[in-house]
Amino acid sequence: MRVLSGIQPSGKLHIGNYFGAMAQFVESQNRGDEGFYFLANYHALTSTRDSELLRELTLHLTAGYLAVGIDPQKSVFFLQSDVPQVTELCWFLNTVCPVSFMEKAHSYKDKIAKGMAANMGLFDYPVLQAADILIYDSNVVPVGQDQKQHIEMTRDLAIKFNQAYDKEVLVVPEPRIREAVAVVPGIDGQKMSKSYNNTIDLFQTPKQTKKQCAKIVTDSTPLEDPKDPANCNVIALLKLLASEEELAEIEANYRKGGYGYGHAKNRLAELINEKFADAREKYDALIASPDELWDILREGGKKARAVADTTMRRVRDVAGIAITYQ
Ligand code: ADP
Ligand code: TRP
Repeated sequence: MRVLSGIQPSGKLHIGNYFGAMAQFVESQNRGDEGFYFLANYHALTSTRDSELLRELTLHLTAGYLAVGIDPQKSVFFLQSDVPQVTELCWFLNTVCPVSFMEKAHSYKDKIAKGMAANMGLFDYPVLQAADILIYDSNVVPVGQDQKQHIEMTRDLAIKFNQAYDKEVLVVPEPRIREAVAVVPGIDGQKMSKSYNNTIDLFQTPKQTKKQCAKIVTDSTPLEDPKDPANCNVIALLKLLASEEELAEIEANYRKGGYGYGHAKNRLAELINEKFADAREKYDALIASPDELWDILREGGKKARAVADTTMRRVRDVAGIAITYQ
């Protein structure tokens, strides 16, 4: 079974990325699944025009993936732009993709509603994502809930392509979404996202984590009064990190009163700092050697290109597209 997923180098990694996506990648890799994990830097072009920043975030994400446990000996780990065939496949998929289909995409509509320019890159984003997935004959795509529709569109495009040429050329993949952590809330209670300024970052100092946790929005129930654990952002985040016993104890303290949101926020920060202490140490060492990071990506790119090349030969062949240079 081939498992594939990608993350855009469009901001600093946060605990939503970890619990929603990266933790699944590492578990899958360590179970022995064949993994393909990459940095979606072509996708990041839809949100940044700052070349220096994009290079910096590319290294940040590379070190981040490796620090949380992606092992380039076990998984194919690479940069999207090291596989130019992916933009070629995107074109083939565009030719079987109805425009009406794209107009239904939630993420496109959300981005336009937030004021982003309605350019073709943004519109075509899901087709490029489908190409990312289909070019490696991926079977399973682990992602957070927000990506569900993109995976459904990928399935539809694979089916449409196969129907158009009356041949099983592309493998139809399945999403894998961990329901328990489908959407990790940010410090304001909305989905945690690089673009909402509401994150708790993965790679930072314990002090910075404590500061971000202190900003989690709660109601203004005074310390001595009972509180409702069911409607609390701090509890929602503690669920990801605390043991069942500790969570039950904190919830009981909420109901009893005399336990403030500040106590719960401090405990959350401690748990985050403990959980990511090792990864942070690895990250600091990795980010200090950018040449080694580029070397790792270069090696992964070779493996990814070899697979992409085989798929593209199949795709060109069935469509009657010749190239004369290979
Ligand atoms: P962001 O929304 O911060 O830009 P990305 O879109 O780059 O994050 O997401 C990378 C991966 O992390 C995707 O699989 C996405 O579903 C997952 N992810 C991002 N934010 C969350 C969240 N708040 N909860 C669960 N999963 C998330
Ligand atoms: N759209 C994804 C996100 O924002 C990133 C991505 C690009 C992706 N290509 C992919 C995820 C292929 C899974 C598979 O998170």
